[in-house]
Amino acid sequence: MNRIEGRVKVTGLATYAAEYPVEDVAYCCPVQSTIARGRVTRVDAGAALAMPGVLAVLSVDDPPGLTGDADAELALFGSRDVVYRGQLVAAVVAGTYDEARAAADAVRVDYEPQTHDVRLRADHPGLYRPEVVNPNLAPDTEKGDVEAGLAAAAATVDVTYTTPPLHNNPMEPHAAVALWAEDGRLLVYDSTQGTSGDRDAIAKTFGLPPEQVRVVSRHVGGGFGSKGTTRPNAVLAALAARAAGRPVKVAFTRQQMFDLTGYRTPTIQRLRLGADADGRLTAVEHVGYVQSGRLVEFAEQTATPGRVMYATPALRTAHRLVRLDVATPSWMRAPGECPGMYALESAMDELAEAAGIDPVELRIVNEPTSEPDSGLPFSSRSLVTCLREGARRFDWDRRDPAPGIRREGEWLVGTGVAASTYPARRGPSRATVTVDEDGDFVVQVAAADIGTGARTVLTRIAADCLGVAPDRVHVELGDSDLPDAPVAGGSMGTASWGSAVVRACEALRADGGQGTADTAEEVRADEELARHAFGAQFAEVRVSSVTGEIRVSRLLGVFAAGRILDARLARSQFIGGMTMGMGMALMEETLTDDEFGGFLRRDLAQYHVPACADVPAVEAVWIDEQDGLLNPMGSKGIGEIGIVGTAAAIGNAVHHATGRRVRDLPITPAKIL
Ligand code: MOS
Repeated sequence: MNRIEGRVKVTGLATYAAEYPVEDVAYCCPVQSTIARGRVTRVDAGAALAMPGVLAVLSVDDPPGLTGDADAELALFGSRDVVYRGQLVAAVVAGTYDEARAAADAVRVDYEPQTHDVRLRADHPGLYRPEVVNPNLAPDTEKGDVEAGLAAAAATVDVTYTTPPLHNNPMEPHAAVALWAEDGRLLVYDSTQGTSGDRDAIAKTFGLPPEQVRVVSRHVGGGFGSKGTTRPNAVLAALAARAAGRPVKVAFTRQQMFDLTGYRTPTIQRLRLGADADGRLTAVEHVGYVQSGRLVEFAEQTATPGRVMYATPALRTAHRLVRLDVATPSWMRAPGECPGMYALESAMDELAEAAGIDPVELRIVNEPTSEPDSGLPFSSRSLVTCLREGARRFDWDRRDPAPGIRREGEWLVGTGVAASTYPARRGPSRATVTVDEDGDFVVQVAAADIGTGARTVLTRIAADCLGVAPDRVHVELGDSDLPDAPVAGGSMGTASWGSAVVRACEALRADGGQGTADTAEEVRADEELARHAFGAQFAEVRVSSVTGEIRVSRLLGVFAAGRILDARLARSQFIGGMTMGMGMALMEETLTDDEFGGFLRRDLAQYHVPACADVPAVEAVWIDEQDGLLNPMGSKGIGEIGIVGTAAAIGNAVHHATGRRVRDLPITPAKIL
């Protein structure tokens, strides 16, 4: 099946948030703080207000009275306190975008600056143990005696890995158009990963009942987490529309996105591992140091993968967090698992070398029979099958483990492996199915298609359940007036929405296939089991001994994620994740500016993501799992697992090629030479 919206997308007919034709629309452009910490003492809007087309200037001089019940970062212009560089301190509304932008430059903001601190350090005096880490996990866990396990080990590693701040760069920047109706109802065309949650957050921020707000988001050009929660573009558009008495459009520039739409926290991760002479783990300790902002605590679950991955008699995981003068970190594809598995799977490679054991075998001998931390049985777990299948496809048995010895001219060649994992969760969702006058089926659910193919897969799920051809099913999504649905995030969209769609289709069938069936699928009663997808990633790299340039000549991912519902869509998700993981390994890095606070890289010329020429051969294959303990489709999420483990596989391959162990991402030529 082709993607249902494929044609309108590639012909430019798909309408994105900033593109809705709205009459009499005005434009709003933000003014951002130029200090990282302090107070706004004065906003002089005089010059801006005198400029052509200017309708209003919003600022802390006239606080709009937003509640901040949803998120303190959305209570715009409510406080004179500046808590990070780039924070919104004012905004200009004008008749055209250019007028708004020119006037924004003319708004004069005076500050009383204070000393700021934007640098994450493992010895920072402000570090503390958060109450919980995302999504609601214990910050620390401990079982067995780590010190005794390390003392008894035949081989140990004690290594520290660091990852930089990373930014989501979806193709479609954040944008919103807001319209207040005469009856006071607010309509927002937003670019969001979930209209139900976005509606609720906007309503809370404005102190409105949720039914007074409608969010429409039919097409979304990517999100990766940056559109998983409401962002200031939506609130700013609504505020500006209220002030101007006209519909208002806000379209953030790529540069503004770096300050206003979240980022992946930098991490410092210390791993201590021990193994006996057979490679059996005797101890695993993983401590993650991460940062948050001053307004909201965001505690990424970086050190949690060890709770899932390997059998060990002693396991300690811990998180330490520090509140700095930075924007609050946020969601980025596989938050927690992605940086955490980078460090754990790199350290496992170092342990394999220290113990003289093949890195695939090291993982296989440490395969647990139940989830290591909780002791819960797995609903299904096919990591070993993935490792063996990947090893077969990669001719792993012919690999010489010695690093730095394969040379083709100036190029050093090496291969590496790493495991992947991601939880298989779902949330409560509603859906309705209605028979229309032609006898076709209309499926309604406030799901989001952020480029993943949600429309297409939900069409297949409904057609399957109804026993009709897919072209007789019409899926409506991307509108908060449709039945409530959870966010397209946490790799749980399809599992959650699909469960509700199946229940609604079953109810319609039970009713004789007439009328409408509206079903809420509650999932809270799920049996207690460890539900995770797993995978194995293999990388081949070539590193120039002259320039240090690193080329990934081959990437292979073998995944086990339950039943794969649509092969083409699944492959896109897997290779998209792997490509993003390659960016993390070799290119992506947002530099933090100690002197002025804030970020120094703010566009795609400086924040490098992989281009087509960087990804010559990415293959994704999968092991079909029959797992009846997940949801009616038997599926696990596939949106995030592709990025988990990729950076470790590439880093491990770079070590195999060169003999150099770079423990600080990204692995750039300067770190190799
Ligand atoms: Mo993703 S970070 O779960 O939107």
